[in-house]
Amino acid sequence: MADNTEIVRRRTFAIIAHPDAGKTSLTEKLLLFGGQIQVAGAVKSNKIKKTATSDWMEIEKQRGISVTTSVMEFDYQGYKINILDTPGHQDFAEDTYRTLTAVDSVIIVVDGAKGVETQTRKLMEVCRMRNTPVIIFVNKMDREGKDPFDLLDELEEELMIQVRPLSWPIEQGPRFKGVYNIYEQKLDLYQPSKQVVTEKMEVDIHTEELDNQIGKPLADKLRGDLELIEGVYPAFDVDSYLAGECAPVFFGSALNNFGVQELLNCFVQIAPSPRPVQAEEREVKPEEPKFTGFIFKITANIDPNHRSCVAFCKVCSGKFVRNAPYLHVRHGKMMRFSSPTQFMAQRKTTIDEAYAGDIIGLPDNGTFKIGDTLTEGEQLHFRGLPSFSPEMFKYIENADPMKQKQLAKGIDQLMDEGVAQLFVNQFNGRKIIGTVGQLQFEVIQYRLLNEYNASCRWEPVSLYKACWIESDDADELEAFKKRKYQYMAKDREGRDVFLADSGYVLQMAQMDFKHIRFHFTSEF
Ligand code: G4P
Repeated sequence: MADNTEIVRRRTFAIIAHPDAGKTSLTEKLLLFGGQIQVAGAVKSNKIKKTATSDWMEIEKQRGISVTTSVMEFDYQGYKINILDTPGHQDFAEDTYRTLTAVDSVIIVVDGAKGVETQTRKLMEVCRMRNTPVIIFVNKMDREGKDPFDLLDELEEELMIQVRPLSWPIEQGPRFKGVYNIYEQKLDLYQPSKQVVTEKMEVDIHTEELDNQIGKPLADKLRGDLELIEGVYPAFDVDSYLAGECAPVFFGSALNNFGVQELLNCFVQIAPSPRPVQAEEREVKPEEPKFTGFIFKITANIDPNHRSCVAFCKVCSGKFVRNAPYLHVRHGKMMRFSSPTQFMAQRKTTIDEAYAGDIIGLPDNGTFKIGDTLTEGEQLHFRGLPSFSPEMFKYIENADPMKQKQLAKGIDQLMDEGVAQLFVNQFNGRKIIGTVGQLQFEVIQYRLLNEYNASCRWEPVSLYKACWIESDDADELEAFKKRKYQYMAKDREGRDVFLADSGYVLQMAQMDFKHIRFHFTSEF
């Protein structure tokens, strides 16, 4: 058996948020508690500012920062915390979806004034697909925001998950006094500070001490609020959190390091240690003695003269050992890794071993593809996250006839990295790239030129959605493909994809071909 104590102390999670909600600020404060950084302000935001969309070097630089901070790990109260960073810019949402396949739980940051925003909603959908346990941190309580009860209703409705407050704010904005920690039954009074953590007080809320601390009117209001909470929300139940059915909610201010330690203390206690992972063949348990893992993310080196990537591998079971032979299942080849790395805030260090729940960086020269599995010999295939239908489509054309090969190779490798999705139109043989946002097209063009010496040109194609199609009625499927032959494409796995050019066309197709199932994700 593998060393169970190593597994149960691991907490591997991601912080997700709509841009600007406070993900970077919260990550930084968690690293402060973990002793990984000494002062606030040391963690650079990895978000690509909107103004930088046309400034390529800037994006490269910023992407570089996010490369080295892709995984951050630290020890806290005997727990080993692995935080997986996700790109701040929504055009890279696919990257975030994939990162979510490698975490055991998630913390969602919501801006207390803005409430649930689009990106949060989408990311929550992915969590729901996988029953990932989530904790919600309502940030920016030092600013005027929504009424906390209204906010809880909004969270429940918009994120489609039950919520349970475990802390409660006393006023907000300029009148913000602090939070009452329901989980630990302690009062935490607010002092705005980026560096100092406030002292918590154990206050029996039914005594005069509470009145003395925050004044009678606020004390009465807090008592009333807490009574209402106890009446409306069922008692907190760890199992329903772990099942992904109920999300505990904390309030605070990441920028002022307020409410963050409460969040962290509760998180390490209730968040799951590495969970079993489903492979096509069977469920793999973290405590199994043999090593298994899968690649969920590949990041290119920012040095254009030295084209090598880092493939991020999540250890699913057993113990990974440096230089031990492991089977690359897709290639059927044994491989040894002499310089696997782990990431401590901004530093990268070579490691000798890693346990289930850990993320290791493996140097890669194009041998890995997202979703690849490594084992000690077993034929195992971990299920990745399905691809979602892209939102934007463009034809990709070769702009330099002498560099046809380079372009093909570049496109191939970038797709392996999961930068975007490629479809080949069966009618005209043209390649169509599908993305989530405009920025991805720019990244692809830039990287093809800089890393593969190939130049491409984009040509417009007006498409609404890519739908993977299937049917039990082979004749109807054939009839459909014939009728829609101009809009039929194959994805990289050779599956049939219908490229609908409008919502109306799709609706009509669904009506006319009743036995065909149209899927907006590639796994069904
Ligand atoms: P992100 O990674 O989710 O995109 O958010 P980030 O932490 O970068 O925060 C976005 C903005 O919100 C930053 O301001 C940050 O200072 C601010 N912020 C984060 N937490 C709080 C909070 O608890 N209270 C208040 N009042 N503000 C908060 P910025 O002006 O965009 O950047 P900066 O100049 O402060 O770095």
